[in-house]
Amino acid sequence: MAVISSSITSCDNEKHTKDLSKQSLTSETYSGKHITHKYDEQIDSIMVQLTLEEKVGMLHGTSMFTTAGVERLEIPELKMADGPLGVREEISRSSWAPAGLDNDFATYYPAGGGLSATWNTKLAYLFGNSVGEESRARGKDVLLSPAINIIRTPLGGRTYEYLTEDPFLNKKLTVPFIVGLQDNDVAACVKHYVANNQETNRDFVDVQIDERTLREIYLPVFEAAVKEANAYSIMGAYNKFRGEYLCENNNMLNGVLKGEWGFEGIVISDWAAVHTSVNSLKSGLDVEMGTPKPFNEFFLADPLLDSVKAGKISKAEIDKHVKRILRLMYTLKSMGGEDRKKGSINTEDHFNDAYKIASESVVLLKNSKNLLPINASEVKSIAVIGNNATKKNALGGFGAGVKTKREVTPLEGLKNRLPESIEINYAEGYQEKYAPKKKSIFGEVTQERAKTIDELDPKMLEEAINAAKTSDVAIIFAGSNRDYETEASDRADLELPFGQGELIEKILEVNPNTIVVMIAGAPFNINSIKEKSSALVWSWFNGSEGGNALADVLLGNVNPSGKLPWTMPKTIMDSPAHATNNFPGDKTVSYGEGLLVGYRWFDTKNIEPLYPFGYGLSYTTFNIKNAHADKEGPYSENETINIYVDVENTGTIDGKEVVQLYVSKKDSKIERAAQELKGFEKVSVNAGKTVNTVITIPVKELAYYNVTKKEWVVEPGTYKIKIGNSSRAIKEEISININ
Ligand code: BGC
Repeated sequence: MAVISSSITSCDNEKHTKDLSKQSLTSETYSGKHITHKYDEQIDSIMVQLTLEEKVGMLHGTSMFTTAGVERLEIPELKMADGPLGVREEISRSSWAPAGLDNDFATYYPAGGGLSATWNTKLAYLFGNSVGEESRARGKDVLLSPAINIIRTPLGGRTYEYLTEDPFLNKKLTVPFIVGLQDNDVAACVKHYVANNQETNRDFVDVQIDERTLREIYLPVFEAAVKEANAYSIMGAYNKFRGEYLCENNNMLNGVLKGEWGFEGIVISDWAAVHTSVNSLKSGLDVEMGTPKPFNEFFLADPLLDSVKAGKISKAEIDKHVKRILRLMYTLKSMGGEDRKKGSINTEDHFNDAYKIASESVVLLKNSKNLLPINASEVKSIAVIGNNATKKNALGGFGAGVKTKREVTPLEGLKNRLPESIEINYAEGYQEKYAPKKKSIFGEVTQERAKTIDELDPKMLEEAINAAKTSDVAIIFAGSNRDYETEASDRADLELPFGQGELIEKILEVNPNTIVVMIAGAPFNINSIKEKSSALVWSWFNGSEGGNALADVLLGNVNPSGKLPWTMPKTIMDSPAHATNNFPGDKTVSYGEGLLVGYRWFDTKNIEPLYPFGYGLSYTTFNIKNAHADKEGPYSENETINIYVDVENTGTIDGKEVVQLYVSKKDSKIERAAQELKGFEKVSVNAGKTVNTVITIPVKELAYYNVTKKEWVVEPGTYKIKIGNSSRAIKEEISININ
């Protein structure tokens, strides 16, 4: 019998303890607490006691990750830490050097790509909440996370750190993440606002985007972060937008963010992204952070004091920003004496949280001969090949590194999970090798990636071939790492580095039972691997428990349920920014592909991707059927469309499927992508069972941005709702009308 299961119970997380029941709703229901105004009178009384110098001290970094406090008035420093993969190790107060402490370990959580591949909003909340607890345990007020810029090009150096190419998936994961984080009396700092979609020339490139594309593709996640999650801080990006640096862009800060959206938190600059004193403050920046130089030389330090004295900026303007900071402090309870969450760190619970996310993120790309899951009772020996089998990815990479006590590698994961009777023959196969170093240096931003040495070492190759030949099964752990994919440089191409292509071909030749596991955060050219291998798995920089989660998927303890959060192109020239010759630009980059970012481009232009957005297999099979809307009749703008759909598990093992809902408008009066994701639901279905699920779409979600009217408009008429399990696997279609 079919059971009605709303999203409340559709994702089962109970395997690992933690009561999520209160938050286990769809992302629509996640909403964060507002900045408090309860203490406004106290704030006024503090303001009159503060000297100008003290106020200015609060507006800029006085160490690498803090602004000044005012001891005599019991105003604490505002303490910040990176970042998206977990709370970064402590950095020296006046340089980028690690502080060298032994109490700054933290849980390493899966990088952005891993979280987004789960397509699970509850896990996004869990992630935020878990890292929020760690932030508090480390005494932080602001975590410089989440990093959520749209993935415009697969080559972007921070693709691994960001979530997705799709604005809907982006906001649906970002909102619960922020709410979870901020539930711990710590502020999210949502970054990088905005149009920071490449590393090349990021310090000065002037991004040009047409208004509709800005509103529909690049802003929705920030808008939802502000309006739904009530994010307490936003990081201004390095780059320019329409001629103005983002940290002094009046239209984007005072206009859109604080004006239109009513943002009450603080705008913190990216590190060294400020270029003026008066203009940046007047344009809406609140706090300047940066790289070391004497901190009093920051634009919002002595030069600002001089500007006040010279009458170029009013004291009232300074007060405006200081008040916002104080309000934030009361909201976070770092002032006001209310009980503040104390947090916890490096706990088994947190490692379990990282595990849960990782185990739902692994994407099964191909399994044509059912090599997977590996049946441990039938296998006597396994060759484990590849540098990525033992590579650790927690540390490094500018602000996205974590010093952790636990990072289970893929090889360790297998050893943890396999019976001792199975022989593991490890061979490194390829080495991570760079030409005389041009590893990323902070502040140096080029498109040049570290030049890799792509030749294989003959001896290592031979060892790997022998291991593969003499083992029942071979698993190659290939892909990239966080030196190769990194902030501050985009990749030059999609090719696999370090000679891995050749290695994989040779191993496939000698052992047909070869499973290729990619560990990477961004698309690579895996055309020939797809063709020649029969088992292909995608994993990520996947956190402290990444190796255990991966082993569990390979061995069938966990049924894979990850879905690609971006399109894997066959060639880079198929990707929109490249096909339209709009990457990386020079002083200016124009987003000439407009709305057609990611799958929107591929689907509208009928270009076959290597793997489509939303793609991912399971060890079981699902049948998505009986889709119907709650009514035939026309919906009006304020209504919600409920789409009911049955998900039948037609196989013999339990699994999870992501039901995806795309919307098309035929005969639209305006330009539109062929289809757009407007709903999804991750559903857990036991073998042989059927689950009814409901996906809700507020009609307003179908609006486009009307540039002339400067408002969101729902075009009346017929819409096609397509339901499937990837953007290219549509199983059901229904039409609905909107009047
Ligand atoms: C990055 C930010 C990071 C900051 C502080 C910058 O280079 O763009 O994401 O939070 O450094 O480490």
